[in-house]
Amino acid sequence: MTMQTLPQPYTTAALIRAMAPVDVVIDSFLREQIIVTSQSCESCDVYCAGGEHKMSPWSVPSQSRFASLIASISTANCASFDFDWTSCKFLPSQRYISKLVTQYIIRMEKEADTYNAVVELEDDHLVSLVYHLSMYRSTIVPDPCSSCFLTFQVPITMVSNEVKSTKIVYQYSGDHSGNEGDFLQIRTFPYHNDVGLKLWEAGACLAEYLIQYPEVIRAKNVMELGAGVGLTGLVAAVCGGCGEGARSVHMTDYTQATLENLRFNADVNAEWLKKRGVDVRNVSIGFLEWGDLGDCKQNDGLEIRQSVTNSGSTTALLNADVLLAADVVYDIHCIPDLVCTVNRFLSCGNSLENKKALFATTYRNKTTFDLFENELEKRGILCDYIPKQLQEGLPSIFPCYFNQQHADVRLCCMKLVV
Ligand SMILES: C[S@@+](CC[C@H](N)C(=O)[O-])C[C@H]1O[C@@H](n2cnc3c(N)ncnc32)[C@H](O)[C@@H]1O
Repeated sequence: MTMQTLPQPYTTAALIRAMAPVDVVIDSFLREQIIVTSQSCESCDVYCAGGEHKMSPWSVPSQSRFASLIASISTANCASFDFDWTSCKFLPSQRYISKLVTQYIIRMEKEADTYNAVVELEDDHLVSLVYHLSMYRSTIVPDPCSSCFLTFQVPITMVSNEVKSTKIVYQYSGDHSGNEGDFLQIRTFPYHNDVGLKLWEAGACLAEYLIQYPEVIRAKNVMELGAGVGLTGLVAAVCGGCGEGARSVHMTDYTQATLENLRFNADVNAEWLKKRGVDVRNVSIGFLEWGDLGDCKQNDGLEIRQSVTNSGSTTALLNADVLLAADVVYDIHCIPDLVCTVNRFLSCGNSLENKKALFATTYRNKTTFDLFENELEKRGILCDYIPKQLQEGLPSIFPCYFNQQHADVRLCCMKLVV
C-alpha cells in the first residue's frame, strides 16, 4: 500500500484559520519570513552583526507583515484596523487571536538575542493591533441577561453638631416602595470573567469605611483606580450627608466592558445621587491604565505630557486630593505599574502634603503582597495599616455574598515620606 502524500503544508494563514497551537503558527510565520528576507537581502530586512549579515524574522517589515496577516484574517478592513468581529464569519475566535499576538510579542522579546540586534515592537500597525486587542480583551459587551442588580440601602452619616465629631447617627431614607433614587443599585455580571464586572469584598469594605469616616473625603477631589462596578466611588460622592460628600469623584478603569458598565451604574444611580445633594456633573468616569503616565513637572502651572489614552484621567489624578483603590493588588505583573501610578499621584500636583491614597486590599498571596510593599518602600511611600479593631467596628452595610471574608481585607493609608 502506498503512503498517501500529505497535502501541501499549511500556510501560516491556514494554520491560523485552523486555530493551530500558537507556537506552531509563529514557527511557520518565522520560516516564511526567513524566505522573504533572504530574497530581499539588500533591503532593510537585514541586521548587520559584526560585519556579518543576519536575517531577522523579527524586523520591522516582518512585524508589519504579521500585523497585516492577522488583520486580513480577522477582518476585511485591515487598513483602518477597525475590527468588526461580530460581522465576520468563519473566523478564529478573538481570544485565540489575542493569545497568538501576545505569544508573538513574548517570543520576539525572548529571541531578540539570537539575532544580535535590539528587537522591539516597532511597527505602527502591530502596535495598534496590540493596543486594539488589549482594549478588546473585554469589549464583548456582556449580555445584560446575564447581569443582576445588587440593591443597597445606604445610610447617610450625620455628625451631631453638639458633640461635633464622635456621635454618628445613621439615617436611612426610602422604603421598599420602589421610589426612584431610594436605593443604590449596582449592576454586576457574576459569571463574566472580567474582574471589573463584579463587586469585591474590598470595594464594599472601603465604602463602609468612607461611610463611617466621611471626613477623609469630605469636600475633596477624589480619584479611584480600578473602580470596577463603581460602588466605592458612588458612595464616596454622597457620604458625609446631603451634598457633603467628596467635591468631585473620578472613577477609572481600563477594560471597555468595565467602563461601559461603570457608566451604566453611574447613570442608573443619577437620581440616587441627586436625592443626596450631589451634582452629577461632579461624578465622572474615564479610562486609566496603570503605569507610566508620562512626565510632569511643576512650574507656575502644571505641565503634563499625557498619553492620548489616559488624558483626562491623568489630569484628574494629579489634581486629586485622595486616591481610592479597592482590590487592585492581585496580579503580580501589574504591581510595579500600580505603584508607579500611586507615586505619580503622591508626587505631582498641588498641596502634596495633604495628598493621601486609601487602599483596601484583599490578602491572597504573600509573594504579591511582598512585592507591593517592596515597591512602595522603593519609592518612599509610607503605608499605614488601619488598626484591625477599627476595621472590625465598621458597620456592615453591603451584606452580599463574597468569596472571602471581610477579615481578609486590609485597609491602609499611603503617603509620601517627606
Ligand atoms: C478585583 S477588581 C476590583 C474592582 C472594585 N474596585 C471592587 O473592589 O469591587 C480589580 C479592578 O482593577 C482593574 N484593573 C486591573 N488591572 C488594571 C490596570 N492595569 N489598569 C487599570 N485598571 C486595572 C480591573 O479592571 C478591575 O476593575
